Amino acid sequence: MSNTSIVCIEDIERLAKSQLSKKTRDYYADGANNQYTLEENRSAFDRLRIRPRFLRDVSVRDMTVTILGQKINFPIGASPSAYHRLAHPDGEIATAKAVSSMGSIMILSTSSSYALEDVIKVVPNSTLWFQLYVFNNRQVTKMLIQRAERCGFKALVLTVDTPISGFQYNFAQNGLDMSNEKMGNFEGIDLNKAGLNYSEEDTSKRHLASFYDTSLTWDAISWIRTVTSLPVVVKGILTGEDAEMAIKYGASAIMVSNHGGRQLDGVPATVDVLPEVVKKVNGRCEVYLDSGVRTGTDVLKAIALGAKAVFIGRPVLWGLTYNGEDGVKQVLKILKNELDLAMALSGCKTLKDIETTPSLVVKDNYY
Ligand code: FNR
Repeated sequence: MSNTSIVCIEDIERLAKSQLSKKTRDYYADGANNQYTLEENRSAFDRLRIRPRFLRDVSVRDMTVTILGQKINFPIGASPSAYHRLAHPDGEIATAKAVSSMGSIMILSTSSSYALEDVIKVVPNSTLWFQLYVFNNRQVTKMLIQRAERCGFKALVLTVDTPISGFQYNFAQNGLDMSNEKMGNFEGIDLNKAGLNYSEEDTSKRHLASFYDTSLTWDAISWIRTVTSLPVVVKGILTGEDAEMAIKYGASAIMVSNHGGRQLDGVPATVDVLPEVVKKVNGRCEVYLDSGVRTGTDVLKAIALGAKAVFIGRPVLWGLTYNGEDGVKQVLKILKNELDLAMALSGCKTLKDIETTPSLVVKDNYY
């Protein structure tokens, strides 16, 4: 397929999948167990309808947004995902360059292939957040947090939906072995000697995940705030109750996420729980969403329902696989252009218009 025949994210996904080994493809694409939540992430977006408004002068459109004090060109960032070198030798370095050149935001995973210092070095003036898994050794965790703060990351993103890894059938049967993958953030550190204790039974394939602190409670946010002055985004919230807890313990923002359907199968689609979370938060902090975003109209729908920005996980990996830095750029460009089109065709000049137009997005119960 030549470059001009790529018109949407699905095209890039198809190409990327044809380039990957089965094990890596499964690792990227699969959801947990029967993949109900994975499918629901898509179909919930599809169930929503847009009620367009016309004759509202859409000649000049503006997609910029300020999140946690940082202005970005459009409200679509890169979610954290592990081991970008599985997709492309330049890994997170390529992803960061692409996201930065588009003027958006990237969240770097704790489990990145490249060290956080090496990634931020290539995009010194852009907005990077660091995703944090809390390990069962707090010193190791503190060291990571302080490295991220020292070299210029602007926020920490604490992932709360992964006390242990979800279960994926292909992975369990004959999945990728990540125990020898380069773990940039731990280079030179012997994990077995760093005071980390294995907490999962199967330590063979998901190396780092074996060291997560499964006893984590909300106090972890308070603890993080004692060791850093960076704002903390809590990623993985799926209920109003937990949104309330996150705010109570000092979260600066909440990301509604179900980890792209990779953790607990059967949890709802994020766009379905977004209104509940937004209502509970009631303006006290920013709310973002990921999981299942694949088109510009998805972005419009999430913003209309109260998200300040959205993030994408797998599409970044598809772009990176397909064509490295340029592939990730292409993914972001497609989504940005689609959002621009959706705004023009629904009568919205700004993201504020999307947010404030009454009932711009409704469930498909027209009758
Ligand atoms: C992830 N995700 C993830 N999340 C996180 O907080 N830390 C991580 O290291 C990873 N790793 C990871 C690897 C892979 C291969 C995938 C696909 C996902 C979850 C990610 O941040 C995000 O929540 C989902 O990917 C969003 O869903 P979509 O956009 O992939 O549907």
